[in-house]
Amino acid sequence: MDKLRLGYVGCGFMAQRVHIPNFVSLPDCEVVALAELRPELGRKVQTRFGIPTLYRDHQELLADPDVQAVAMSAAFSVQGDLARDALQAGKDVFVEKPMAVSVPQADSILAAARRSGKKLMVGYMKRYDVGNELVKAKLDQFRTSGELGALTFARNHGFGGEWIAGLDIPVDTTDEPMPAVPPIGPDWLPERFLKPYVSYLQQYTHNVNLLRYFLDAGDDVGVRAVDLDEDGYSGVVVLDMAGTRVVLETGHISHHRWDEHTQVYFRDGWVKTWAPPLLLRQVPAEVEVYRAGGEQTFSRPIPQPGWTWSYKREAEHFVRCLRTGEPFRSSGEDTRTDVRIFEDIYRAYLAQLGSL
Ligand SMILES: NC(=O)c1ccc[n+]([C@@H]2O[C@H](COP(=O)([O-])OP(=O)(O)OC[C@H]3O[C@@H](n4cnc5c(N)ncnc54)[C@H](O)[C@@H]3O)[C@@H](O)[C@H]2O)c1
Repeated sequence: MDKLRLGYVGCGFMAQRVHIPNFVSLPDCEVVALAELRPELGRKVQTRFGIPTLYRDHQELLADPDVQAVAMSAAFSVQGDLARDALQAGKDVFVEKPMAVSVPQADSILAAARRSGKKLMVGYMKRYDVGNELVKAKLDQFRTSGELGALTFARNHGFGGEWIAGLDIPVDTTDEPMPAVPPIGPDWLPERFLKPYVSYLQQYTHNVNLLRYFLDAGDDVGVRAVDLDEDGYSGVVVLDMAGTRVVLETGHISHHRWDEHTQVYFRDGWVKTWAPPLLLRQVPAEVEVYRAGGEQTFSRPIPQPGWTWSYKREAEHFVRCLRTGEPFRSSGEDTRTDVRIFEDIYRAYLAQLGSL
């Protein structure tokens, strides 16, 4: 089969440090074009990665019939519209999370995909971490066999910390100003809450998306309780995911690693996983299985293949699915739920503050 001919839109931090190097390294993918609004930056990145064509903006790139699929990363509120335009132009798309900052924006993107028949994958790299794949396999096993009793509870704790972990892939910069970012969000959200809403959404969409994957919850998710501080970020949210109570603990810590773990409880044990700092290459999530009962045991199964990077496996998945027709594990249709949940959390938060 011929290589997938990919165009990349945006030459920012994630593009240069993560996505372009990953796509360039895949044997069945060729990055044939780049688009960047900052021309000098675009030229530098084009030269560094030896990409044949540079376009001034995404629309120019989308008009190139040689580009089969497009990957993109840009400001939170911008990249969804770039994805919509790309789908409309008849390209398959990989877009960073969050796909959208409001449900109407998500729906306009999904409508463009339906009209063109093209596919959309969203960059939830945690679903491609082999440690998380092992957790999912263990949960499926325990839920089917019943060997640990009923599923009773799940929690995700995400206080952040140091996420770059010394990644030394260089980043080109210039003095060109960043393009303006339109302040968009849900139309019911008062403007003063836009910044904290987007900040909370863009961070914890990963955690909610991962929990939905672990619990096979699909769109069967409701918000039970919200207790957030004045920053609209730190606190506790209780969700119902397909009948299981799930707690999301959010906040900050100046941790030297990445303070995030997820634990799923059964009556007679648990499965727990610790996330690596996000950009720590070749280090998957760690996994622990605890079995209660007569002889109590802990095991720390090692994810296989070992020493892999979630973002690289995410890029491989995108290319493989386009070539085989396999569905994406983190599709645009699926992630609409994440966007809806964050609107629901903020509606509840604002109602408590008396600000709706
Ligand atoms: N998955 C993760 O763990 C993770 C981590 C960090 C950031 N992100 C996501 O990555 C995104 C940010 O990506 P980044 O760091 O590459 O962004 P960035 O803001 O550093 O750069 C975006 C680039 O896109 C360019 N651009 C904007 N509109 C364009 C257009 N119409 N045509 C061509 N170029 C255009 C800008 O000039 C800019 O250079 C955010 O959405 C964020 O949520 C994901």
